Amino acid sequence: MLSDAEAEAELARLAALLLAANTAYHTKDAPEITDAEYDAAKRRNFALEARFPHLKRADSPSEVVGAGVAEGFTKIAHEVRMLSLENAFEDKDVEEFEDRVRKYLGHSGPLAFTAEPKIDGLSLSLRYENGRLIHAATRGDGETGENVTENAQTIGDIPQVLTDAPVVLEVRGEVYMSHVDFKALNARQKELGGKIFANPRNAAAGSLRQLDASITSSRPLRFFAYAWGAVSEPLAETQISAINRLKKLGFAVNPLTILCNGAAEMLTHYNTIEAKRSSLGYDIDGVVYKVNDLSLQRRLGFRSTTPRWAIAHKFPAELAWTRLLAIDIQVGRTGALSPVARLEPVTVGGVVVSNATLHNEDYIAGRDSKGNAIRDGKDIRVGDWVQVYRAGDVIPKIADVDLSRRSDGLQRYEFPVICPECGSPTLREEGDAVRRCSGGLICPAQAVERLRHFVGRGTFDIEGLGAKQIEAFYRDGWVQTPAEIFSLRARFGTGLQQLKNREGWGEKSAENLFDAIDEKRKISLNRLIFALGIRHVGESSASLLANHYATWPQFETAMTHATIGAGAAWDELLAIDGVGAVLAASVIATFQNERERAAIDALIAELEVQPVVTRAPVNSPVAGKTVVFTGTFEKMTRAEAKATAESLGAKVAGSVSAKTDLLVAGPGAGSKAKAAAALGVETIDEDGWLALIGST
Ligand code: IVH
Repeated sequence: MLSDAEAEAELARLAALLLAANTAYHTKDAPEITDAEYDAAKRRNFALEARFPHLKRADSPSEVVGAGVAEGFTKIAHEVRMLSLENAFEDKDVEEFEDRVRKYLGHSGPLAFTAEPKIDGLSLSLRYENGRLIHAATRGDGETGENVTENAQTIGDIPQVLTDAPVVLEVRGEVYMSHVDFKALNARQKELGGKIFANPRNAAAGSLRQLDASITSSRPLRFFAYAWGAVSEPLAETQISAINRLKKLGFAVNPLTILCNGAAEMLTHYNTIEAKRSSLGYDIDGVVYKVNDLSLQRRLGFRSTTPRWAIAHKFPAELAWTRLLAIDIQVGRTGALSPVARLEPVTVGGVVVSNATLHNEDYIAGRDSKGNAIRDGKDIRVGDWVQVYRAGDVIPKIADVDLSRRSDGLQRYEFPVICPECGSPTLREEGDAVRRCSGGLICPAQAVERLRHFVGRGTFDIEGLGAKQIEAFYRDGWVQTPAEIFSLRARFGTGLQQLKNREGWGEKSAENLFDAIDEKRKISLNRLIFALGIRHVGESSASLLANHYATWPQFETAMTHATIGAGAAWDELLAIDGVGAVLAASVIATFQNERERAAIDALIAELEVQPVVTRAPVNSPVAGKTVVFTGTFEKMTRAEAKATAESLGAKVAGSVSAKTDLLVAGPGAGSKAKAAAALGVETIDEDGWLALIGST
């Protein structure tokens, strides 16, 4: 219902915003808005142009396509994955961390942890062989990083040669920039008309990820070592002595690293470090605690992306007050309507914030998901003064609203009951905090988000086909569904002209794109399942499903014949440890929806889905077996037993069925032992299990 004049003004605003965002994005490491915000602005611009074609600007942002494929760094696969850390925000989270570790290990005696600052930089892995620096790689997606060896060689804190080091040694740590160096760099940049960095972390990242190492060498980067990856022999028996060993080898290690006995001492050190925070001269964003004994670290092992033996205790968020200018609605991959606050720009902890999440309908209205009042029941209105906070890297949030500054006549915000992107009704399911568009794949926002997810890092990760490119392809009708990505070459490859005519694409980059797409026709089952974008199916549940069904045909057949809520296929799904009814129902519903099913079938026809290979040692006596644990154990905890069994290639199920090969029953085993007896499933006790896996 905009007038021509309003639409014109809005188009001008969007053109400026998108131009600024493009510049920030393509000069790298200083993005000012998130991808989602960028997309929303682009879509809004597009919708306005469709409605007011006569107002389309000569410099319309919809004609601008991303910079295409940058000739980037080569890749390095990490021999040992680079993980991230679970976060703790409150004292009780730290106490719970200690409890969890103790429970997992079944350990009640003294237990030591290291505590050290969490450096706010970017992580780097340095591989030394026979004492020489062989390569340096960024974290990347944790499995593969960028080869920044030449750049790392220019950093003074990083030794080129080591004496008395293990034959193979991967040292991991954080690259960062000090406050003084950051200020001087920005001053220099300003003088030269170069890029101004938002904060030391961005400056460090931008400086390390330079294709021209001579630029890196002119930037004052530093490095703290705090961990290691592959090693040909253990560095030490404890975390603290391993760090001391790294120090002796010539690495800078953080001087505020100490040993603590339990949560109380960890919290004291947290307060000490926080008190020193402003005088350290470099940014830190919390304190990291790690179990000191490395043999206990080994027993604790890892979850999918984080170790069980460490946690990052973050400093509290930084706050600021500003005005809420508008509330925009973004529609996500599963149709979720997310309200985004557009704010009068304000600096929060050194970063200019102009957007923040408002979570959902209830949050704006001043309720939590159970209907209880939050913020004393104060609702948030466009025009209000709101409190913004940032915690770590996450998107800024709105914490509070100041009623004393509310102007007269502000209206309550009405959450849209029809999808702003496709006009379909929006629905809220019982018990769901989120309102969703019911349009499914007919909703352009959902279709685009699905495609973006599909080509993303944890899924197909097609080189050269990022969010911006896939969106442009969608908009122009080249790719509407995932399957169509794989027919791009057939449809456009021979001509090439059309692709070449697009800004940012030349013959070589087009060829590279087609090759990169072909390379991904071979895909692992877990990545594929995750890529399908099924609601409730994240990366780790996709792996659970893949590991259980092992091949695409088996998975597909089971899902096609399953019925929600009953039957053998349903029971089998629920017997997978970690799969619940909500997830199971969502997967089955997707396979039985005609439209979704057609899209899946078309996709599969283009792919070669790799079956799951169990990485179990060939001689493991339990490889491929389905094991159930029940009752209580003395020498191991349930969680540890499960993790060990899985590392030996066994499947661990939550209930006994005809498919169970082995029941390990401790004292107190009840119905599961009975079921096993009735089915004739082999049953052994804890010692029998330990003997079987050879750990007695
Ligand atoms: S330990 C397996 N220690 O924080 C765990 N990480 O949020 C390895 N970081 O990816 C990480 N200071 O980049 C560790 N003292 C410290 C750290 C630290 C900063 C970073 C690191 C990690 C991220 C997780």
